[in-house]
Amino acid sequence: MKSEIIDIAKNKLNDTGYLDIDLDPTIDLFAEIEKLKKEKNAIILAHYYQEPDIQDVADYIGDSLGLAQKAEKTDASMIVFAGVHFMAETAKILNPQKKVVIPDLKAGCSLSDSCPPALFKKFKEEHPDHKVVSYINCSAGIKALSDVICTSSNAKIVVESFPKEQPIIFAPDKNLGAYINKVTGRNMVLWNGTCMVHEIFSLEKITKLKVRHPDAKLIAHPECEDAVLRIADFIGSTTGLLKFTQSDSSQEYIVATETGILHQMMKASPYKTFIPAPPDNSCACNDCPHMKRNTLEKIYLCMEYETPEILMDEALRIAAKKPIDRMLELSARAGL
Ligand code: 13P
Ligand code: SF4
Repeated sequence: MKSEIIDIAKNKLNDTGYLDIDLDPTIDLFAEIEKLKKEKNAIILAHYYQEPDIQDVADYIGDSLGLAQKAEKTDASMIVFAGVHFMAETAKILNPQKKVVIPDLKAGCSLSDSCPPALFKKFKEEHPDHKVVSYINCSAGIKALSDVICTSSNAKIVVESFPKEQPIIFAPDKNLGAYINKVTGRNMVLWNGTCMVHEIFSLEKITKLKVRHPDAKLIAHPECEDAVLRIADFIGSTTGLLKFTQSDSSQEYIVATETGILHQMMKASPYKTFIPAPPDNSCACNDCPHMKRNTLEKIYLCMEYETPEILMDEALRIAAKKPIDRMLELSARAGL
């Protein structure tokens, strides 16, 4: 009977993206997940944008670079990726022998979706003398068309690994690309993609907030628009922002990135105040709807039934691995 229910649930994955199975509401999910970790030699890797309960049950919480590095090194048999699809896919590219499961296959990314491989291939053909640096927030198809991958914490060193005269295409995030152009003095050609969360912050509302909190520092992720980055006191990846709030002496911060990071900021500095930067309307748009598709229930179910699993074409995996390896090599050399 149980296996029948699972088969029916698995067949519905295309519609739902996750195992839609009713759970007994009295079960202690934290304890059950810990049990499954031991039974299956599984590790839970979570991005900072996950909800607090998921961060608390994770074995490792990190930014995109930290998660890729951890995925490369783990000796667990099963990787449970509490993040979005391109992150779990990167873990699979690095670990073809391991089972990589994701709580919800439909946890995508607007930035990754903004860059379809067929269109990008044409764009690349229009710039035959350019090398391609792609932000990790892209599909395996884009990675396979790239010379090297970067994240927000290593983009500067990755771009600077090319001689100054080398023409470069940067994809898919135009805001990060423009920021890296500014700090490196390069003139990379930018793919026109953005993150739906980071482009939503309102300069006007942030300015008003700064007036009301004159001692608060504005800290921003480089996926934000230039107008926000220009007035930021510090710009960094999620790990960079977290570390800054730990070492800096201010007591108050306006945080221009996804709200999930506030959980670790408050845990690390309980006596400091963290204010999420306001979006340009009254929606909760600074919560990433893709990241927030994951829940503790879905984590439990994907571990118990080892579904949905990330599966990939081997030729594509090999082609996508090369530029990721290059990024990991450059990062290790830079001590990141
Ligand atoms: P980092 O975790 O590398 O800072 O990237 C942020 C992000 O938008 C992930 O989707
Ligand atoms: Fe993609 Fe933006 Fe969500 Fe990150 S926060 S997963 S870049 S949509």
